[in-house]
Amino acid sequence: MADRAPLWPAIDKPSHPHDSAHLHVIGLARYVDDGAEPADMLHLAFGQSEQAHARIAAMDLSAVRAAPGVVAVYTAADIPGANDVSPMAGDDRLLADGEVICVGQSVFLVAATSRDAARRAARLGRIDYEPLPALVTIEEARAAGSLIEPTQRMARGDAAAALATAPRRATGGFDMGGQDHFYLEGQVAIATPGEDGQMHILSSTQHPSEIQHLVAHMLHRPSADVTVEVRRMGGAFGGKETQAALFAAAAALVASKTGRPAKFRCDRDDDMAMTGKRHDFRVDYDVGFDDEGRILALSLRLASRCGVTVDLSPAINDRAMFHADNCYWLPDVEIVSERLKTHTVSATAFRGFGGPQGMLAIERIIDDVAARTGRDPLAVRIANLYGPDRDVTPYAMRVEDNIAPQMIARLRETARYDERQAAVEAFNARNNVLKKGIALTPVKFGISFTTTHLNQAGALVHVYADGSIQINHGGTEMGQGLYIKVAQVVADVFAVPVSTVRITATRTDKVPNTSATAASSGADLNGMAAFEAATTIRDRLAAFLARTHGCAAGDVRFTPDGVRFGDQCLSFATLCRKAHIGRISLSSTGYYATPGIVYDRESHKGRPFYYFAYGAAVSEVVVDTLTGEHRVLAVDILHDVGRSLNPAIDMGQIEGGFLQGQGWLTTEELVFDANGRLLTHSPATYKIPTASDRPRHFAIHLWDGDNVQPTINRSKAVGEPPFMLAISVFSALGRTIAATAPDKRALPPLNAPATPEAILRAIAGHRAA
Ligand code: MTE
Ligand code: MOS
Repeated sequence: MADRAPLWPAIDKPSHPHDSAHLHVIGLARYVDDGAEPADMLHLAFGQSEQAHARIAAMDLSAVRAAPGVVAVYTAADIPGANDVSPMAGDDRLLADGEVICVGQSVFLVAATSRDAARRAARLGRIDYEPLPALVTIEEARAAGSLIEPTQRMARGDAAAALATAPRRATGGFDMGGQDHFYLEGQVAIATPGEDGQMHILSSTQHPSEIQHLVAHMLHRPSADVTVEVRRMGGAFGGKETQAALFAAAAALVASKTGRPAKFRCDRDDDMAMTGKRHDFRVDYDVGFDDEGRILALSLRLASRCGVTVDLSPAINDRAMFHADNCYWLPDVEIVSERLKTHTVSATAFRGFGGPQGMLAIERIIDDVAARTGRDPLAVRIANLYGPDRDVTPYAMRVEDNIAPQMIARLRETARYDERQAAVEAFNARNNVLKKGIALTPVKFGISFTTTHLNQAGALVHVYADGSIQINHGGTEMGQGLYIKVAQVVADVFAVPVSTVRITATRTDKVPNTSATAASSGADLNGMAAFEAATTIRDRLAAFLARTHGCAAGDVRFTPDGVRFGDQCLSFATLCRKAHIGRISLSSTGYYATPGIVYDRESHKGRPFYYFAYGAAVSEVVVDTLTGEHRVLAVDILHDVGRSLNPAIDMGQIEGGFLQGQGWLTTEELVFDANGRLLTHSPATYKIPTASDRPRHFAIHLWDGDNVQPTINRSKAVGEPPFMLAISVFSALGRTIAATAPDKRALPPLNAPATPEAILRAIAGHRAA
C-alpha cells in the first residue's frame, strides 16, 4: 500500500453535507418502517414477563389466540434452531424458556394482521409464575456475590504500599446512573421469506452480520440463506449493536413459520422497558497524593449493574478500566472491576462503551483531591497529566501521541478560563441564591475495538462504464455521517465529484463477516477498506492506459479535470468506457485490518488501541440553590479529530456527543422499582436534553494536528470521544455546590445525574458536612 501515491489525498471539499441531509429534512429518507406494506404482512408484539425472576409454572395463551386479528402465537418450543439472540455468551433468549429473568422479557410472540391487534392480544396471556429470588440493585447483587464474570483487576506497582506512605490520603465514593439511548427511530425489523428457505431482513441495526448469523442459527439454516440489509438507522448510539437482534429474530421466526412478511416495530414504552441501557456504576476510591495534588497511589473499585445476561458487559467494563486513567499518570494503581448480575434488563453498549464511567470516576477523584488540597482543579489536572517518563497507562501501553497538555493550554487561553474563574468567584461572593461554577476537563479516548479481531472491515466498489460509482461497505449509517465520509474517500481516489458516487445500503450479501459499526471506528475501518478497493480499480485503469497508450502507469494522474497521461487527457467516464471495452474489471473488493494492536485479557496488559483521540472542554454553569435547577451557560470545546475527513460532520458529532453526555449527567434518570420494573419508560418521565438545554454560548474548535498513525487521511475517530467532554458540566456543578459552603475543604457529595433533587441533596449534605 505504501507505494501507492498519493497515499493520503487531501479530501476535496471536505465539509460536504450529509448524503441524506436533503432527504432527512423533507421526510424522504427511507427508514425500515417507511416502505409500502404488502397486503399479507403480519405485525408482531411480545407477551412480556411481569416478574423479575420466576419459574413459568403454566401458560394459557388461548385468549391470545382467540383475539381479533391474531394469526399465530409462538413460544420457545416453536423455534426450529437456537433460542438465542446474544452477541457472545448464548444467554439471551428470543423467547423465555421455563423461566423468566427480568421484567419485560419476551415470553411469547403474537403475529396479527395489525400492530394494534398484536399488541392488544399480547396482553391477554395468562402466565402462572412461581417467584424466585430476584436481585435488583448493585447492593443486592454485591451482597449475594452475583456476577456475570469474575471480578477483573488491572494493576501496576503496589497501590496499597504507596497509599500507606502517601503524605495525604482520601477515600470517597459516588453513584452514576445509566442512560436510555432514546434513538428517534425505535427498534424495528421486517423479515421477508424468499424461495427455498431463504430470508431477507431489513433491520435497524448497527450489526447486520450478527443478526444474519443469529437468525441463521435460530432458523437452523446456513448463514448464506439469510441476508440482512440496513440503509440507515434513525439513531442507535450503541442501542442497536446487540439489541436489534431480538426484533429481527422475532420477525424472521414469524416469516419462516407463516411464509408471510413480518414486521416488528416496537412501541416506544416497550422499547425503553425491554432493551438494554448504559450501565450504572458505583465508584469507591482510596487515593494518595501530595500537597500539590499529585496522585501517588490509587485504589479504585468500579462496580457496574450488568443486568441479567452477559451481552457486551465484559468489554464495556474493560473499557471503563481502560479509561479510569483518562489523561493522568497513576504511578501505583489498582483498578478492580466488579460486573454484577441483577434481574434487570441486560445493560448494553452506549456511546463511550464504559469509557464515560471510568473517566467520570477519575475526574471526580481529581476534583476531590483539588478540594482537599485547596488548589484549583485545573492546576491539579495539569499536575497529573501524562508526560515524558510518566507516559505508560495502567495497562502498559505507552501514550505516544500525548497532546492533552497542549490542548488544555490552548483551550485555557482561548476560553479565558482564568479570567472567567475569577469572575465566577466574584459573582459567588455577591450572590447567595444563584451560584456559578466553571470547570475544564480533558478527554483521552482509546480508538480500536479492545476485542482485537473485530478491527477489520471490507468494502465493495463498482465503477460503471459511464464513470458513475457505487460503493458498499460493512459500516452502517446511524446519522453519524459514515457514508458520506467513505464516499468522499472513494471520490478522492478517482478525483471525481462526490456526487458521482452512489452510496448503497449495507448488506451482508455484498460485504460479509463484518463487525458492528461501533467503537467509533466506522470511518477508520471502512474508509480504509473502500480506499483499498478504489485504489485497486484506479491501478487497473492506470495500467490499461499505459498499455494502450504507451505511457508509464506511474505517469497517469487522476485529476479533477480528467485523467492525464503525457500531454493527453481523458474524462473519467471516457476512460471507464474504454476500459470496459478493453475488458478490464471495474469492480473490486477492499479489505483492511488495523495493524499493531495486541491485548492480553488475562493480565490486562498490551496495546489495545491504535491511537488516542483527545479533547478538552470548559463548561460554566449556574445553579439556583433554592430549587436545585441549573443552566449550562457556556461551553468551549477544543477537540482532536486528526486531519478531518469532513469538518462539518465532525462538528455535528462533537456537538451531539456533548449534549448527549450532558443529558446523561444532568437530566436523564432511570428509576427502577424494587421488582426491577422500569418506571421511567417514556418521554413523560425520562428527560433527554432539548434545544433549550443547549448552551447559549457553544464554541467548538478542531485541533489542527494530524493523526500520528497512518489512518485514512490521517483522520481520527469522532463518534464517541466528545460525549465525555460533558464531564466538565458535572465537574462545574460540583464546584458550584462547593461554593454554597466555601470554607469547607471537601468535595460536595454528588451523584450523577445531577437532577435538581440530587443537587439540593448535595447542597444540604455539603453544608452539613
Ligand atoms: N451519531 C448519530 N447521529 N447517531 C448515532 O447513533 N452513535 C454513536 C456515534 N455517533 C451515533 C452517532 C456511537 S455509539 C458510535 S460507536 C459511533 O457514532 C459509530 O459510528 P462511527 O464508528 O462511524 O463513528
Ligand atoms: Mo458505540 S457504543 O460503540 O455503538
